[in-house]
Amino acid sequence: MKVLVSGGAGYIGSHVVKALGEKGYDVLVVDNLSTGHSELVLYGELIKEDLANKEGISRIIRSFKPDAVMHFAAHIRVEESVMDPLKYYRNNTVNSLNLIESCVEGDIKEFIFSSTAAVYGIPEKLPVTEDSPLKPINPYGRSKMMVEYILEDTAGPLSKYNDFRYVSLRYFNVAGADEKSRIGQKYPEATHLITRALKAAKGEIENFQIFGTDYNTPDGTCIRDYIHVDDLADAHLKALDYLKKGGKSDVFNCGYGHGYSVREVVDTVKKVTGVDFHVEETGRRPGDPPVLIADNSKIKKTLSWTPRHDDLEYIIETAWKWEKKL
Ligand code: UFG
Repeated sequence: MKVLVSGGAGYIGSHVVKALGEKGYDVLVVDNLSTGHSELVLYGELIKEDLANKEGISRIIRSFKPDAVMHFAAHIRVEESVMDPLKYYRNNTVNSLNLIESCVEGDIKEFIFSSTAAVYGIPEKLPVTEDSPLKPINPYGRSKMMVEYILEDTAGPLSKYNDFRYVSLRYFNVAGADEKSRIGQKYPEATHLITRALKAAKGEIENFQIFGTDYNTPDGTCIRDYIHVDDLADAHLKALDYLKKGGKSDVFNCGYGHGYSVREVVDTVKKVTGVDFHVEETGRRPGDPPVLIADNSKIKKTLSWTPRHDDLEYIIETAWKWEKKL
């Protein structure tokens, strides 16, 4: 079976390409290599192309004839999206529209989309279920929510493309790396907590900060649901199986259903690395919801997804091994 993966040279995409390759899928990665790296693509072929070039993408789809498309390519920095919203609407929303349109025109009927917990904004109820209202609080989350709506309408019952089916996966906080350290997160400027803390342990970051210690949480810092990237990759394969068996279009949270505070993560990074790096406590980062935890019962039940790495130490150990290799 042939799968086209946009953004397959990026952090999450490359782990999914690995999982697809290991299962014997025929993979074609399309990536503009703006933040992706060709050496992260362990299986299949890589074509350097930008989703902004709809003609180019359509041509690739017509010639490869994938059975399904997985769409990862996107910008992901919440803060940057506030400063440069149009960059996000163009790359995340407009370019997704290009890809979705190329798919329906090319008779591709199965589509898996990388969405985000950012579509929920500050959830009223925790853990957050998929039917919670979508109230993103930044352009990043809105740019992704719009794609969810584009997919929903494209697959709608009265749509001329109503044989098109999709799964949107709403990622919580993705972290960790390949067990054998072949691939991992490789961004020029890390913003994510675990990566920054590891870079502090490595001595690459001198001013590691905890953003906000006055939240209404047990230790005053934000709580997040950290999911290992290989478990997330497995969720994509399960979603693909589901669509292949005729599953209807749907949306699933991807998280473990429990969280850790920023302080707990920092302490675990210190324990795993053995480095007691300097930590400065500073004010809140704008746009941070205090607590974000997935209700994952739907993905477990519907896709038979079973987490294998629900262990913060393992997540940090794999990320640390990769970070040292970088
Ligand atoms: N944090 C620090 N210090 C740092 C980095 C982060 O204290 O150096 C804190 C943040 O303030 C936050 C927590 O650690 O409270 C987690 O922050 P991350 O940047 O690692 O992750 P986010 O929860 O902000 O973002 C993640 C994804 C986004 C997604 C979002 C959904 O990375 O793509 O969840 O809200 F949009």
